[in-house]
Amino acid sequence: MKNIALLTSGGDAPGMNAAIRAVVLTAHHYNFNITGYFHGYNGLIHNESKSLSLTDVNGIIGRGGTILKSARCPAMLTPQGIQQAVASLEKDQIDALIVIGGDGSFNGLIEISLLWQGQVIGIPGTIDNDIDHTDFTIGFSTAVNTAIEAIDKIRDTADAFERVFIVELMGRNSGHITFNVGISSAAEQILSFENFDCADTTARLTELSEDIKRVQTNRHASYLIVIAENLWPDGCSSLAQQLTEITGIDCTPCILGYIQRGGSPVAKDRLLATKLGVASVQAINEEKTHLMIGEQNNAVVFIELIEAVKHQKKVNSQLIKAQKDILSVTNQTQI
Ligand code: F6P
Repeated sequence: MKNIALLTSGGDAPGMNAAIRAVVLTAHHYNFNITGYFHGYNGLIHNESKSLSLTDVNGIIGRGGTILKSARCPAMLTPQGIQQAVASLEKDQIDALIVIGGDGSFNGLIEISLLWQGQVIGIPGTIDNDIDHTDFTIGFSTAVNTAIEAIDKIRDTADAFERVFIVELMGRNSGHITFNVGISSAAEQILSFENFDCADTTARLTELSEDIKRVQTNRHASYLIVIAENLWPDGCSSLAQQLTEITGIDCTPCILGYIQRGGSPVAKDRLLATKLGVASVQAINEEKTHLMIGEQNNAVVFIELIEAVKHQKKVNSQLIKAQKDILSVTNQTQI
């Protein structure tokens, strides 16, 4: 018999509920007690928890968000916060802690493990897909699909008006969403950390303006730029305004924002979440600890937590190269 604690932390991601369900079902299978802590690490620090029954996870596999709620927890960046979290784990006689979240959440887990003897397991859940050593994180596929659907609709208006749209995508400081969405939406330009240097904004503005004018004059069609959030100084609205002023052509900004975090998870996320949730409790049953449960080439992998947070996962270099050499409209010199 073990007492397992479970929480979701950081940005919610579609599929977190599917992972919670899988953890709860597997815990019950092994006759383990499973307690959910609410609002990320805050629930651990402030004793907000509930024992999770099979009924609690009925009907949640297709729901976005997280039934355990989530939050950022600045207290976990302080020694006092970590000590409080550890004190709660000890008071509640927890044997193992499972955290579903991104790299910040995993860092919290590592800090806890330095003071606490229990088993610690991380499940990668973030729309950003920036966790190393797992092909995908829970929520990424849904976020990409949601953004593509939205951009297809924007494209209809853009085509009808032969207009320039600049769509800003989430990802914090990595371009997985931007590249995957940009390529799948046949964006004329993809601007992201991996392929676009904002050090000289004047030079970049000149290049982009020339290209917009060339394509708009010769092709009479829409022109879609997707841009990673936090890339352009002052954001996509500022870029749109600057380009409008230089080209004399209306460039419309559109920040997709939190629409990318919500919604019912696609099949790929439900399956990934379920596989990782089941494997996390199996790992606990086998006395494993200090691991992230990920997936590579369709198989579950067990990665040292410390390795998972060492580097941000890079965007697929083949996508970057294909965009640079072939797909970007800048290469289509016949237009
Ligand atoms: O990590 C997920 C994410 O949605 C990022 O893409 C984004 O930069 C960030 O969270 C936004 O965080 P918050 O919801 O705290 O504003």
